Amino acid sequence: MANLKTTYMGIELKTPIIAASSGLTASVTKVKELAQAGAGAVVLKSLFEEQILFDSNKMTEGFNAEVHADALDFFNGMSSNYFLDEYLGLVEECKKAVDIPIIASVNCVSSGAWLKYAKRFENVGADALELNVFDIPVNKKLSSEDYEKYYYDLAKAVKAETSIPVALKLSPHFTSLARVLENFADIGIEALVLFNRFYRPDIDINKMVMTHAPIFSASEEIALSLQWIALLSGEINVDFAASTGVHNAEGVIKQLLAGAKAVEICSAVYKNGAGIFTDINKAVSAWMDKNGFDFIDEFNGRLCQEASVNPGAYERTQYMKAAVGIS
Ligand SMILES: Cc1cc2nc3c(=O)[nH]c(=O)nc-3n(C[C@H](O)[C@H](O)[C@H](O)COP(=O)(O)O)c2cc1C
Repeated sequence: MANLKTTYMGIELKTPIIAASSGLTASVTKVKELAQAGAGAVVLKSLFEEQILFDSNKMTEGFNAEVHADALDFFNGMSSNYFLDEYLGLVEECKKAVDIPIIASVNCVSSGAWLKYAKRFENVGADALELNVFDIPVNKKLSSEDYEKYYYDLAKAVKAETSIPVALKLSPHFTSLARVLENFADIGIEALVLFNRFYRPDIDINKMVMTHAPIFSASEEIALSLQWIALLSGEINVDFAASTGVHNAEGVIKQLLAGAKAVEICSAVYKNGAGIFTDINKAVSAWMDKNGFDFIDEFNGRLCQEASVNPGAYERTQYMKAAVGIS
């Protein structure tokens, strides 16, 4: 029987299939359920940078006790770092409750004041920190280098503050993606999660209002991360985790062949429940048995571009095949 054991960011996993950050990873009960079903690790629901910096004492400064009595009662019941403390409690409880790695997650937009608290995730036992860095480059005054610098500053600052492994969960929207990802590796970031799936706006033409596209991914969306992980996993000295559009064992196997060290799944868990981890683990294991693989290392990255016979021609040839039917 095949063994799914692997390592991601230097952390041992029983299986490379990880529960991605979402509402499904926001409580000890849910995390226990995911672990029992066979998730290799859990990325907890993100804490927002703004929540870390939220200070209930500051919130109530200047409140008139008679006019705002209700609000004062509410805020006085909170510790000064209410959300952070609550989140750190969640990390601590999850660590006690399960024997799989717990990855804390922060959704951040800056390398500012929140970073002084980064060490606290480590202190309560988080195995790693995943940063969901979210900034839409709409400021016309900023060049691509300006935006990139802001990401590098953040990466350097977080590495200086904590000694647990750090993963960056990124969007594909960089001018020179390969170069930017390599720079993160040079800074010492242990893993890159490709790619985040952001809130997608849409427009209702009947009501003429902004709305949003489906919150869950479609399995076709796997293509973008598959392409970039295949292109770069053999080239850049960092662990890649795949995210977006992986809905089943086939998707997991594709990402492992492309070179992903771990695969994060979310929409499929919402649609099928935690039991999907059991199903995918079994199906990946059966596929490995059928193909004569005892360990993931034996096929991990087999189809990355570096491993392919003619890497330079890979992208252009594939494009030509699709565009003009050359075979
Ligand atoms: C309801 C919901 C909540 C999410 N919350 C977070 C979050 O707090 N932090 C985060 O990094 N990603 C969050 N995500 C994104 C997922 O972790 C994942 O990257 C995305 O859904 C793409 O993966 P999938 O195709 O497997 O769903 C959320 C996704 C959904 C659907």
